[in-house]
Amino acid sequence: MAADIKILFCIGLAVVLTGVGESALIGKSHSGGKDDSVLQYVVNNSLREHPVLTKLKLKTLEDRWSIMMVAVEQAQLMANLIRLINGTKAIEIGMYTGYNALSMALAMPDNGHVVACEIEETYIEIGKPFFREAGVEEKIDIRHQTALKTLDDLIEAGEAGMYDFVFIDADKSNYDRYYEKSLELIRTGGIIAIDNVLWSGRVINPAPEDLTSQALDALNKKLHKDERIDLSMLTVGDGLTIAIKR
Ligand SMILES: C[S@@+](CC[C@H](N)C(=O)[O-])C[C@H]1O[C@@H](n2cnc3c(N)ncnc32)[C@H](O)[C@@H]1O
Ligand SMILES: *[C@@H]1O[C@H](CO)[C@@H](O)[C@H](O)[C@H]1NC(C)=O
Ligand SMILES: *[C@@H]1O[C@H](CO)[C@@H](O)[C@H](O)[C@H]1NC(C)=O
Repeated sequence: MAADIKILFCIGLAVVLTGVGESALIGKSHSGGKDDSVLQYVVNNSLREHPVLTKLKLKTLEDRWSIMMVAVEQAQLMANLIRLINGTKAIEIGMYTGYNALSMALAMPDNGHVVACEIEETYIEIGKPFFREAGVEEKIDIRHQTALKTLDDLIEAGEAGMYDFVFIDADKSNYDRYYEKSLELIRTGGIIAIDNVLWSGRVINPAPEDLTSQALDALNKKLHKDERIDLSMLTVGDGLTIAIKR
């Protein structure tokens, strides 16, 4: 099952990585890497990467599925959004090796808390030593089970309306369910960030057999009309929708 998920991710992302190239170091792009020099300029002139995040990124790039890692400039944007709303409680749906979970934890005050959902033990083990090294191990609550189970656990524990920020970045077929449960868990004025909403441009007139692109396109159209939120769809990374709960 995990292998299927990974294959789906890799079919969906258009950045063709030939080993650990320059594009891998600056992150994935909806443009399929065609605007590399502009993206490189952006990163050169705005990225402020914590030294442990740099280390975790380099370690992650050794993994064959490193294409799944969040774009670094996107992680920084989300950290800044958390600062802007004084966020102290966040959920990461699909942690992988933990670049964004660590980035969010570092952006929060000492009482900050990140619930990180991940089903693959190997990835969790890659990330953990870096959380420790950065001194935020206690802020990151890793839940090794399906993300849907974790979201249900949080709702059952009476945590509805308590979260400031959710990043949805796991299996695309469950995105709509993740969105609905996140909306329950988030407070008014809290933010749900949804990754890969452009799916390398494939959401435009998806092919009949391309169920992933169809699901993402349907979710994009649903959010456009959803009166429970205000939204922006950004072209950062592979497309990022920011939904603010009304
Ligand atoms: C695109 S990667 C996440 C990247 C990560 N946000 C980062 O900062 O680099 C998606 C992750 O979701 C995990 N995943 C897939 N299906 C899942 C599920 N049902 N529950 C929890 N995690 C899942 C995968 O194992 C993978 O590590
Ligand atoms: C970005 O920085 C790298 C390393 O210093 C440099 O080689 C590259 O030319 C820079 N690119 C741009 C577009 O600024
Ligand atoms: C965030 O906290 C600062 C300092 O405590 C406060 O001045 C500011 O108004 C808060 N911002 C929001 C959006 O709550």
